[in-house]
Amino acid sequence: MLEGTKINNPSQMASVFDVAKDTVLFLLLSCYYILESFFWTLVPNVIRPMKSLKGDVVLVTGGAGGVGQHLAIKLARLGAKVVIWDICKEGLQKTCTAVMDEGYEIASYIVDLADRNAVYAAAELVKREVGKVDVLINNAGTVFGETLLNLSDTAIETTYKVNILSHYWTVKAFLPDMIKTGKGHVVTVGSVAGLLGTYRCTDYSATKFATVGFHESLFTELRAHGHTSIHATLICPYYINTGMFHGVTPRLMPMLEPDYVAETMIDSIRKNEVNCVMPGSVRYLLPLKCLLPAKMCWDLMHRVMKGPQSMMEFKGKPKVAGG
Ligand SMILES: NC(=O)c1ccc[n+]([C@@H]2O[C@H](COP(=O)([O-])OP(=O)(O)OC[C@H]3O[C@@H](n4cnc5c(N)ncnc54)[C@H](O)[C@@H]3O)[C@@H](O)[C@H]2O)c1
Repeated sequence: MLEGTKINNPSQMASVFDVAKDTVLFLLLSCYYILESFFWTLVPNVIRPMKSLKGDVVLVTGGAGGVGQHLAIKLARLGAKVVIWDICKEGLQKTCTAVMDEGYEIASYIVDLADRNAVYAAAELVKREVGKVDVLINNAGTVFGETLLNLSDTAIETTYKVNILSHYWTVKAFLPDMIKTGKGHVVTVGSVAGLLGTYRCTDYSATKFATVGFHESLFTELRAHGHTSIHATLICPYYINTGMFHGVTPRLMPMLEPDYVAETMIDSIRKNEVNCVMPGSVRYLLPLKCLLPAKMCWDLMHRVMKGPQSMMEFKGKPKVAGG
């Protein structure tokens, strides 16, 4: 399906002339890309043309709480047909009530994202009952917050199933229709913990690093096969005040508010951005981990930022059992 459009096979050895020609073209285009990016950074969102989500079917996983609930309400206000999936029945009801109290419609499904067959079955149901999904937001996530030797095997497997494997099942279920209609958007919710390993997060950070690879590879496949109207956005937020990391008190930067995160995510989707790191300042710190000596990075992390110390206070949220 993805291979529907052929790309030039670049396997033959290129001549020096060809390489030089492509490099010059790349440098010229790069000047344009940098200026374009700079220009759009300066333009405020209110006057910037952004894509409309009116009438689009937008599916949010993990819509029963935290950022997912804020996303559902904000998307409904923009005229999207919102569908939410979650394992937590009461949370789903709360989100539906909040959306319907404002006069909008919403569809909700109890789905355990750790169960591949349940994901495929729910996807078929959504296609039949609501229609083709235009925007898929893989937002659900889970964290156990234990050091490696204290993590049960089941906890590790659940984290992998929810935080990354479920993305394969949802994208496999909904991408073919996006390609058929030439319209779609896959949003992957990663984390700053997926760009920088974190204490008590060997499972969580690893799955969030995997979301980055998943998004980047999917983006490459879509572009390489000419599916330029299918967009992919990676969202990497810093700690968010939803209770997921309850007990943690970061030293230098306060937690982000879920309302702000949901708003920024929707703006990023409507701008068809490929990457969105929150707060933006973190983007400038991350390259340091490759540039600075490892001892200096560790000192910065534990002496100045007190990252591991703050994660030692982790309490998290009670878990809803899978069905
Ligand atoms: N909270 C943070 O500090 C933080 C920071 C960076 C990234 N993130 C990521 O942002 C996303 C949203 O996080 P949040 O803070 O809103 O978390 P949250 O815990 O408030 O919400 C996550 C939702 O996912 C649902 N969920 C968990 N396991 C599920 C399963 N097996 N099947 C179906 N649904 C399931 C939960 O019921 C919950 O409603 C997650 O992917 C998270 O990893 C969170």
